[in-house]
This record gives sequence, structure tokens and C-alpha cells, in this order.
Amino acid sequence: MTSAASSDPVDATSTAAWARLTERADGFEPDLRGWFAADPGRAERLTFDAADLHVDLSKGLVDDEILATLVGLADEVGLEARREAMFRGERINVTEGRPVLHTALRLPEDAVLEVDGHDVVADVHEVLRRVYAFADQVRSGAWTGVTGDRIRTVVNIGIGGSDLGPVMAYEALRPYVAADLECRFISNIDPTDCATTLADLDPATTLFIVSSKTFGTLETLTNARLCRAWLLDGLADADRSAAVAKHFVAVSTALDKVADFGIDPANAFGFWDWVGGRYSVDSAIGTSLVVAIGPERFAEFLAGMHAMDEHFRTTPTESNVPVLMGLLNVWYTDFLDAQTHAVLPYAQLLHRFPAYLQQLTMESNGKGVRWDGSPVTTDTGEVFWGEPGTNGQHAFYQLIHQGTRLIPADFIAFANPAYPLQDSHDGESTDVHELFLANFFAQTRALAFGKTAEEVRAEGTAEAVVPARVFTGNRPTASIMAPALTPGVLGQLIALYEHITFTQGVVWGIDSFDQWGVELGKQLALEIAPAVAGDTRAAEHQDPSTRSLIDYYRRHRR
Ligand code: F6P
Repeated sequence: MTSAASSDPVDATSTAAWARLTERADGFEPDLRGWFAADPGRAERLTFDAADLHVDLSKGLVDDEILATLVGLADEVGLEARREAMFRGERINVTEGRPVLHTALRLPEDAVLEVDGHDVVADVHEVLRRVYAFADQVRSGAWTGVTGDRIRTVVNIGIGGSDLGPVMAYEALRPYVAADLECRFISNIDPTDCATTLADLDPATTLFIVSSKTFGTLETLTNARLCRAWLLDGLADADRSAAVAKHFVAVSTALDKVADFGIDPANAFGFWDWVGGRYSVDSAIGTSLVVAIGPERFAEFLAGMHAMDEHFRTTPTESNVPVLMGLLNVWYTDFLDAQTHAVLPYAQLLHRFPAYLQQLTMESNGKGVRWDGSPVTTDTGEVFWGEPGTNGQHAFYQLIHQGTRLIPADFIAFANPAYPLQDSHDGESTDVHELFLANFFAQTRALAFGKTAEEVRAEGTAEAVVPARVFTGNRPTASIMAPALTPGVLGQLIALYEHITFTQGVVWGIDSFDQWGVELGKQLALEIAPAVAGDTRAAEHQDPSTRSLIDYYRRHRR
């Protein structure tokens, strides 16, 4: 039997479903007003529950036949077999020869998943227990700095997946963070990041977590050395190795390199090469989050992810939310020419969620060749972007409402606010969260149904400005709601987008788990560094444009 990992990708464009979708896209005229008017069951039929998420896809630009054809497309490209192969631990990350098992990070303790005859769930829970014990010690004050002071600030040093997940989740779950602890995050090799993050910290009460899957990332190792120097400078009277041992822990798959850096292996938490960086927030890479919110809440976060994994693994395609959302994205990208996809959380606490999704989606699906090396025959990887509403409404929504481009958008909101506040004025009291949610509901309605010239005229608008005030509508949105932004719900949201990304990757036949595209820039930066530092011979080897930019830098650097 050929395993799904080694089987060739199906060229989606050669399928019967693709041919039908091409026919449907030709001259496609969406009519959300008409569709809703003619079909009172549309909202109910296209609304789905997945774990605690309530997802309304009815304002998407599909009719039943298109949706059924997309479901057929998933069938024809073998989505189910590849999904099974992923969950089983087959080496579906073909170009790196690795299994893809972030889903194993959230399996319950009594589960068993053998990869090459070894139960990875036992490994996962062994590390989790160590991370939890460490977090409990920091939270209780049993773990002190070298001077005996209690730890007040945890600084995570990492970049990409070793930063974006932890910082996003920390911000999202702020209401759950212990009152006497703070986390900060240093990622950029711009020295400003390190300098400003440390500026007001006390080395005696600061603990660093160096998070790097490879422990070879230039930015992270440079920042770790800067932080170590800052610490040792500030604790000049302390024994140097004792200070590093009490103020530095590490998370990595390369524990030998951790030891070389001078971090005690007893203070290192491992994970495995079958966890991609952008899929690692639920591994030991989330240690800063565990310290912040505590093991119990982190376990809820993992349980939330697992609940979404189960939905994705077991729900028929017709009502499988991540699959349907992934297929809709393929429809928008490849048939309706959408170039980008907005994610608009109506939750200030999710303000880093779009940035997190940028790595998840674009590092995963920004590929031009399939997993067998053949070129793709259609567009892949749309640009994901966004900002929390309502801020975005006063910035870029104009383009989504009236611009010439189609921008599918996911709207996310919660029934219960993290901070319920009442606004009292003129003898009236308003629940501010309700005002906030009114915007959430209003925007998707405006985008779907627009405003006709007749409606504009009926408001007494001068004829000359009628065209400027017309909204065409038919701008697709998905509405995702949940009771509240809890650790479990955050886990569900993250896993939802992981599986949307996977679905799209399978349709396009690409390996969503490698990231060779980031390598060339890294390599060139190392090569160019001597020229930047003044080595004229190295500068001569640069192209004329780069040489002249380096020359500008050399002349202006004070
Ligand atoms: O450069 C891309 C990347 O490899 C990401 O995939 C990864 O999340 C990030 O760098 C950080 O890598 P590491 O955790 O190995 O430091």
C-alpha cells in the first residue's frame, strides 16, 4: 500500500470539481440579498458548531452547488487520507522527511501514538510535567533568583514561532495572568527591542526563557547573549554560573546546543523535530505562558486544541468547519481572484492574533512547488492580515467595503467581555460590550448586503454623490463566535486556523510544513555582515545596488 506521505499530490486543477468550479466562476454574480430572500434556511444551513465555536458561513459567496463541488474537490485531492496520515505520524513533511504531529502535543495523557515504534504521547506528558513543575515553582516563589529574590518578570527570547505564539496567547489571556507576574518578549535583532524591554527591569527578579527550536537562530542567540551580559552586569556580586543557572532556562530540540550556551540541561525543556516552529505554542515553547497563567489553565488551552482536532478528524466534510473554511478560501483565491484575507477580531485581547496567523498561514502555504517538486498550477497562499475591530473600521475598512478588490474577512467575537464596563451618561447606562458587538454585527451585514443607489437616494442624498455612497455588498465574511475568550476557546481558535491552513495546503498539493523560503535571506545576511562592518573586499563582491546602500550606511553611521 502506498502511504499518503509518499503518494504524489493530485493536481487539483485536473479534477472534475475544479472544472466545474471554473465553469461556475465564469460570469459568477453573487447575490447575497437575493440568496437570503429566496432561501430563509440559508443562515441556519450554513452555520456550524465546532467545539465551543459557532461559525456562520452564510455570508460567504457560495451557493449550495458550489459548496458541494468544493466538498467534492476535497474528496478528489485526497484530503481525508492526508489528514489521517498527519494524525498517524506519517512523514508528510516530505522535504524535511518529518512527521507532522503538533496534534500529539495536545493528546490526553492516556492516549498512545506510536511513531517508529515509540509512544510520543508519553514523551509529551513527561516534558509537560517538568514544565508544569517549573512553572509552579516560579509562581509560588519557590524558584528565586540568585539573590534569593522572587521572580517578577519572565522574558521570553525567541523569534517566529518561538515568539509569536507565546506573545499572542499571553496577550489574549491577560485576564488569567497571575497578578504578581509579568511576561515580556524579545524577538527582534534590532537592539532597540532588547534595550527597551530590559530598560526598567531588575536583574535580581528577572528570569529569561531562551526559546529556539534549533538553538541556532542568529536573532535569538544574539539577544540571549545580550540578556546574559545585562544580567551579569546587574548582578556583579553574584557567582556568574549560579546567576545564569537561576535566571536562564531554555526550550529547544537541540539540548546539546543549550548546554554549550551555558544553560544547565536540568533547566532545559525539550521538544521534537516533528513540531514545526509555527505550530509550537502548545509545546514547551509555551513555557512563558504556563508560568503566566498556570498549569491548570494551560491544560485547558491544550484541551481546547484537542477538541478542535477531534472535530477536524471526525466530522464529515459537509459540516467540518476548518475544512469548509479552507475550501472557501481556495474558492476565493483561485476562482474569485482574492489576493488577501483579513482576520478581524472584535476582541482587543486578540490584537496579536493576525500577526500570529501571518506566520502560520504564509510560512505554511507561501509555496510555488508541490511536495513532489513540481510547480503548482494555480495561485496559493493568500496574504493574511488584520487588526482588531473597531480600530480597523476607522482605518482600512473603507477598502474592504468599497474598494475594487475582493477581500474575504473572518470576524471573531465573544458573547461575554473580559472586562464588563458600563458607560453612564445623560442618565442612561450602556453596556459597552453591547455597543462593541453591535459594530461586529453591523459590519458583516453591511459587507454582505450593501446599500443600493435607491436606498441612498431615499435618504435625500444629492444625485452627484449617490455613486460614492453606494455599497455594492457581496463582500464575503465568516463570523466566528464563542461564549468567551477562555484558554480553551483560544486553543480551539488556533487549532481551527491550523487545520484551515492544512486543508488549503492539501488542495494545492504543497508541503505546508517546511519553510525553505526564509533561508536565502538568512544566508546572505551572514555573508553581507563583514561588508557592513567595513570590510571593503567583502563590499566589492556585492551587486551595485547593495554596495551603494552599504556605502550610504558607512558614510552616515556616527
Ligand atoms: O526563519 C523561520 C523560522 O525557522 C521559523 O519557522 C521559526 O519559527 C523561527 O525561524 C525560529 O526558529 P527557532 O525556533 O529555531 O529559533
